[in-house]
Amino acid sequence: MIEKQVKLAVIGVGTMGSSHARDIASIPKTQLVAVCDLISDRAEEISQKFGCAFYTNYQDMLDNIELDGVIIATPHEAHTPISIDCLQRGIHVLTEKPLAVHVLDGEKMRDAYQIALSKNPDLKFGIMFQQRTFGYWKSVKELLEKGILGKIMRVTWIITDWFRTQTYYDNGGWRASWRGEGGGVLLNQCPHNLDLLQWFVGMPEKIYGFAKLGKYHNIEVEDEVTAYFEYANGAIGHFITSTAESPGTNRLEITAEMGKLVVEKEKITFWHNKSSSIDEIQFSPNPYNLVENEEKNISFTHHGTPGHRLMIENFANAILYQDPLIAPAIEGLNQLQLSNAIMLSSFLNQPVEIPIDAVRYKNEILERVKNSRIQTIKIQSNPFDASKSFR
Ligand SMILES: NC(=O)c1ccc[n+]([C@@H]2O[C@H](COP(=O)([O-])OP(=O)(O)OC[C@H]3O[C@@H](n4cnc5c(N)ncnc54)[C@H](O)[C@@H]3O)[C@@H](O)[C@H]2O)c1
Repeated sequence: MIEKQVKLAVIGVGTMGSSHARDIASIPKTQLVAVCDLISDRAEEISQKFGCAFYTNYQDMLDNIELDGVIIATPHEAHTPISIDCLQRGIHVLTEKPLAVHVLDGEKMRDAYQIALSKNPDLKFGIMFQQRTFGYWKSVKELLEKGILGKIMRVTWIITDWFRTQTYYDNGGWRASWRGEGGGVLLNQCPHNLDLLQWFVGMPEKIYGFAKLGKYHNIEVEDEVTAYFEYANGAIGHFITSTAESPGTNRLEITAEMGKLVVEKEKITFWHNKSSSIDEIQFSPNPYNLVENEEKNISFTHHGTPGHRLMIENFANAILYQDPLIAPAIEGLNQLQLSNAIMLSSFLNQPVEIPIDAVRYKNEILERVKNSRIQTIKIQSNPFDASKSFR
């Protein structure tokens, strides 16, 4: 039986988009009908490789080709206008992360989607948070949903293994400037971790952020960040990241009344308390005794791939069969809130509440664009093999 096929196009076929084009061309239920890139030679080369049409202007493509959906893999700022144009035409969208550069643009996308949905209730709008498909993160999510940990007391993520060299930043005129990218590690590498964090434990109410700009690289934006979160239930959080540490660390630690969960090196360890540590604090007659616990290695199955292909298959299944999206784009607004809030707090040197003052944040960015030493952005970039960056 021939499977139904979804006609897809990729907009922006640099490092990430060319990989998406390859995946689409090889998935039986998706057909790559066109690619689009501002760089004509690049679009043409990919189109020849996969036997599809090519364009240099996405609106021309939308006007001229019959499409079910698009994947947007341009630099972040263009995610907003392109998503909105596609959604308004009733075309399903899977956008790369982050949803946008700042919350205000993300809200525009959410509003456009809601209007488009009122005309076409089956319209899909997803975001490429492929780490949600990783076995160990799915397992953490399940454990938290089961409530086995009880009241969460602290969540700490040290994610400093996003090592990048100056060569990385120099490749691609849009990277790591206020004008071209609008942010650094919090907007480019950490969206995955910040999305997972909010997926696991929800959103904090208050954030203190400390961001160092171009501390280890010749860039304008942040490459080392420490943030402190406060949650409504009294829990606290820490988020520490850097693109300068080698070797770096990727350790998530969730401490709760019923024990401690640690994810490190693709291994999940759960020290499961036999009783509540909070009750022990209140009622124990002993001054120091720890709560008895059992150390458990939590098993999971991980597909071991970068996960983008699974996200594309999920997007196609959502269009064809109404499968739920693994990552609805609107949830990307939470990650943007977190990224922007940490930076806003750092700019203002004071804590900020969630949701942030989105207008103020945009103005802070515009101010930095105005005063930037980089006043023109070259649309260049030599796509590189990004497979080493996918964890
Ligand atoms: N999910 C992931 O694992 C992952 C990994 C890498 C990058 N990304 C995201 O993918 C996006 C692209 O990153 P990249 O590393 O591929 O960048 P890149 O510079 O290698 O590629 C971007 C491409 O978009 C093209 N482009 C720019 N504006 C365009 C427009 N208006 N219309 C059509 N084409 C346009 C550029 O010419 C370039 O070829 C970013 O938002 C990034 O955050 C996601």
